[in-house]
Amino acid sequence: PPAYRIVVLPGDGIGKNFHRPEVVAEATKVLEVINASSPDFELKLETHKFGGAAIDAVGEPLPPSTLKACQEADAILMGSIGGPKWGVDAKVRPEPGLLTLRKTLGLYANIRPANFASEALLEYTPLKPEIARGFNTVVIRELIGGIYFAARKEATVEPDIGTAWDTMMYSESEVQRITHVAAQIALSTNPPMEIHSIDKANVLACSRLWRKTVTETLTKEYPQIKFDHHLVDAAAMVMVSNPKKLNGVVLTENLFGDILSDESSVIPGSLGLLPSASLAGAPSQPSPNFKPTPGLYEPVHGSAPDIAGKGIANPIGTILSAAMLLRYSLGLDKAATAIETAVRKVLDSPSSGGHGLRTADLGGKVGTTELGDKVVEALKEVL
Ligand code: NAD
Ligand code: IPM
Ligand code: MN
Repeated sequence: PPAYRIVVLPGDGIGKNFHRPEVVAEATKVLEVINASSPDFELKLETHKFGGAAIDAVGEPLPPSTLKACQEADAILMGSIGGPKWGVDAKVRPEPGLLTLRKTLGLYANIRPANFASEALLEYTPLKPEIARGFNTVVIRELIGGIYFAARKEATVEPDIGTAWDTMMYSESEVQRITHVAAQIALSTNPPMEIHSIDKANVLACSRLWRKTVTETLTKEYPQIKFDHHLVDAAAMVMVSNPKKLNGVVLTENLFGDILSDESSVIPGSLGLLPSASLAGAPSQPSPNFKPTPGLYEPVHGSAPDIAGKGIANPIGTILSAAMLLRYSLGLDKAATAIETAVRKVLDSPSSGGHGLRTADLGGKVGTTELGDKVVEALKEVL
């Protein structure tokens, strides 16, 4: 049977709080169940140091051995990195390691679905339930361009702070390729989803290039897809006042996508629920012609230093990231759907006091490990 090599990067904080593994441990537990129940393939998991944990061990966030393992892997499952120990004033920080990993692997397409809506969770949305109900968006974020990657200068002049600058840069081809990804995702439903492209074209040159390129690409090559443009400030407002207006695909550049995906993530209930995939191309749906896309899968949330080590973090974003990994990088759609069904069963299950089987971010009392156990239990029933 085929064996798939999965590199696991627990990272920091609630990914793995030094000694105590948290959300990533629950996702690997789920993958082990899939592995044990499937004689026709084998998942080989290996863990590598990354982020702050790697800085502490070897002095750099992305050691060459970790990068090499990622380059050779079929897919990567990551927790999240960063924390106060390696804060913004530290000489060596975890975050550049993640940016280098994304860039080196060419993972330009970041897919962040905010569509795991469940009626049972509506009471936890920060919005009025009737405003949140029916929200169903996939954020497609360009991940290896823009202001994250063009030239910058730190303010290091002593004794004055001096000046610092960052630059934003996009080429037509960078915008074209992410537009194709958004279009492929829009076409994965019948009828196709609408695309909402988000920019700041009233101010930024990059955004005027963005808008023109998106319009040309969609008009010429995907006439069947409806699309519109929004300015990012107004879009951020619409996201909390009438989010369903953005149902479909939200297509945007790196920095705006970072901000809007966190904003959209809480609408279904909690940041802790949402998964993401970072791919070097459009995800191909499992089919006889399935073409695997090398990918990095991680929850949308960060290392949550405020709750790290307490055993209360919600592992669902990481568990659902593992499901995306199986679907997009290995073509194992049945296993992915089984995990998603199990998660839904757990979240929807009633319990005494009406709190369901939920972690604290969703008003429950269940810890990280216990919730993972419940997902495993439900998964064994589904399989
Ligand atoms: P964060 O996402 O870590 O936390 C924001 C809030 O959400 C916190 O109150 C936290 O407790 C809560 N939260 C997040 N995940 C949760 C979960 N699974 N269950 C329950 N509650 C959860 O954002 P932050 O505090 O701004 O950033 C902390 C660190 O994480 C920073 O160093 C940042 O750079 C890093 N970060 C890393 C990634 C990544 O590695 N992909 C992503 C975002 C932030
Ligand atoms: C994310 C994170 C990262 C980003 C940081 C940790 C570099 O916020 O994945 O959303 O800004 O891309
Ligand atoms: Mn972010």
